[in-house]
Amino acid sequence: MWNSSHARIWLIAAVFSVAFLSPVGSFAQSAEDLFKDCATCHSLEPGKNGVGPSLHGLVGRRIATVEGFRYSNILKAQTVVWNESLLDRFIADPQAMFRGNKMPYSGMSDAAARKVLVDWLVSQR
Ligand code: HEC
Repeated sequence: MWNSSHARIWLIAAVFSVAFLSPVGSFAQSAEDLFKDCATCHSLEPGKNGVGPSLHGLVGRRIATVEGFRYSNILKAQTVVWNESLLDRFIADPQAMFRGNKMPYSGMSDAAARKVLVDWLVSQR
């Protein structure tokens, strides 16, 4: 009896490790799917602000410069221009990067998914 339940525990452990170790690729989401996380607050149309500012032409423009959007002071204080690596860091953990910003998004932990999303955002210029 002990042996069979012991075996079962090992089987469960093996199944779990396969699930966790398998490449993210098999569950890969498209950029459009990933952007659904953002689209509740952001549009990609120029000048169309929602809860968040329009992300039109994001890469290559200075942080917090969409006209007509009321940014937090922490974002307004930044002088850098958005590029791929900054976006990757921001999406991973917005509060870690700019503490006190008012984007209510806890972050995307999956690096492969972030890469898909950031590459796509870059192409949306
Ligand atoms: C629940 C609403 C919400 C969600 C979801 C959200 N954002 Fe935001 N986002 C905001 C707000 C609000 C701001 C302005 C923050 C500030 O001023 O502190 C912002 C700011 C930004 C900025 C800075 C824009 C600029 O003009 O400099 C980027 C880039 C951004 N968000 C990208 C994203 C991406 C990519 C996602 C999805 C992974 C996302 N956001 C999800 C609300 C949201």
